[in-house]
Amino acid sequence: QEVAHSRLAGAKLIMVVNREPYIHLHQKERIHWIRPAGGLTTALDPVMQACGALWVAHGSGDADQEVSDAKGRIGVPPDDPRYTLKRIWLTLNEEKGYYYGFANSSLWPLCHQVYSRPTFDPDHWDIYRRVNHKFAESILEEVGNEPALVFVQDYHFALLPKILKDARPDLVVAQFWHIPWPSPEVFRVCPWYQEIIEGMLGNDLLAFHIQNHCNNFLDTVDRTLECRLDWEHFSVLRNGHTTRVRPHPISVDPTLSEEYLDQDWQIRARQFRDKYQLGDRKLIVGVDRLDYTKGIPERLRAVDRLLMTHPEWVENFHFVQIAAPSRTLLDAYQSLTQEVQTLVDEINLRYGSSHWQPVLFLNEHLGPEDVAVLYRMSEGCVVSSLHDGMNLVAKEFVCARSDEQGVLVLSEFTGAARELTDAIIVNPYDVSQLSDGMHSILTMPAAEQSKRMKKMRAEVQDKNIYRWAGMLLSEALKLVESTPSENLE
Ligand code: F6P
Repeated sequence: QEVAHSRLAGAKLIMVVNREPYIHLHQKERIHWIRPAGGLTTALDPVMQACGALWVAHGSGDADQEVSDAKGRIGVPPDDPRYTLKRIWLTLNEEKGYYYGFANSSLWPLCHQVYSRPTFDPDHWDIYRRVNHKFAESILEEVGNEPALVFVQDYHFALLPKILKDARPDLVVAQFWHIPWPSPEVFRVCPWYQEIIEGMLGNDLLAFHIQNHCNNFLDTVDRTLECRLDWEHFSVLRNGHTTRVRPHPISVDPTLSEEYLDQDWQIRARQFRDKYQLGDRKLIVGVDRLDYTKGIPERLRAVDRLLMTHPEWVENFHFVQIAAPSRTLLDAYQSLTQEVQTLVDEINLRYGSSHWQPVLFLNEHLGPEDVAVLYRMSEGCVVSSLHDGMNLVAKEFVCARSDEQGVLVLSEFTGAARELTDAIIVNPYDVSQLSDGMHSILTMPAAEQSKRMKKMRAEVQDKNIYRWAGMLLSEALKLVESTPSENLE
């Protein structure tokens, strides 16, 4: 926090994120706001509140325009403004081509390699490029003639760094890529891979969650462009410009769970149990966006196997799956919703009775306060992503367990598995590992839970979101202070 405050003096900080942190919607006669599902906005909002700055995002709420000024700006959080949110208005066609199209039908499956075949539509690509230019124009207008650090988030903006740098070589541009980066063989199936790599090399600093993604990116550059690769310093020198490539695992604000778990959390826990007739049975939870990378069907098959191999759990526990609807215009997400609903119905029919259903499936977005209570009242949490850049649910679960109880079952294919090594680490493609993990959640002795949870909590408390932001920003700010030619170490 202090780094951000003291060293940003003189340079504007502009955060560029597709998703806005507060969405305004019409509700009957009123306008109300909600916070979107997804780890990125939740993680970045406290950082922005701490250092104040400008967050540029696609305005997606049906009442956003009404509450913003003529330039699309509004102070947020809406009930206690601490920083400025600038919204960019996209047409429906732009949203379809850029967000649903190239970002989420091409780049998302391409980078996650979960056997959902990416599609490449030239019209989507064209719109994706135009939207990257649209964001660039708006950011350049905001920057004016001042020095600035533009911090770009994610795969929605692969081309933006180069557009900004071409227009203003003196700007410092950093990007964090929140999803995995695959091997060159995989990435090069994208017909426009070269332009994407060139776009990203507009960055002075490019960060991924883990070293492996940095290595894959540098390998891809190596096989794509004429440039000088410095493997010792993890940087790329091209046309007189250096891009540093670094791992910076993202995290969460560990203090938030304490706020969410105020003195009435047990009352809220009881209300939840009563509402869904959970009695006092043990709970295992899963909390995700309903996305095919998260391994939700695999998890449900593991519940089925658990009940088959350990009949002692019949009538004695519930698996609670919260699944926030996500990217619902896309066929892949619609068929996943159907697949999950069918699996839930089958399991409940096979094992359930008039007074007990093993799976509670809530296809809705729960606010962070309710999710924290759910984490706290459960025996454990299952994160079974087939591939995930980081996965912040794993870290949020750990933060909610100040009682030092609770077991985390965590996929080895998440970035989080590198840090939370005291979780039960599983291969989610192996249903028996997942169901054994669930059995361990229900049976692990309290002392063992406490030993593991203490270590995981210490890890997240130490490597928290402020440290992530502080390290990234201070690395980028060193570049603010150097001239472009000094920039070439
Ligand atoms: O994991 C990648 C990511 O873009 C996150 O950064 C974000 O929280 C999540 O996906 C949500 O995606 P969307 O904004 O499409 O709902």
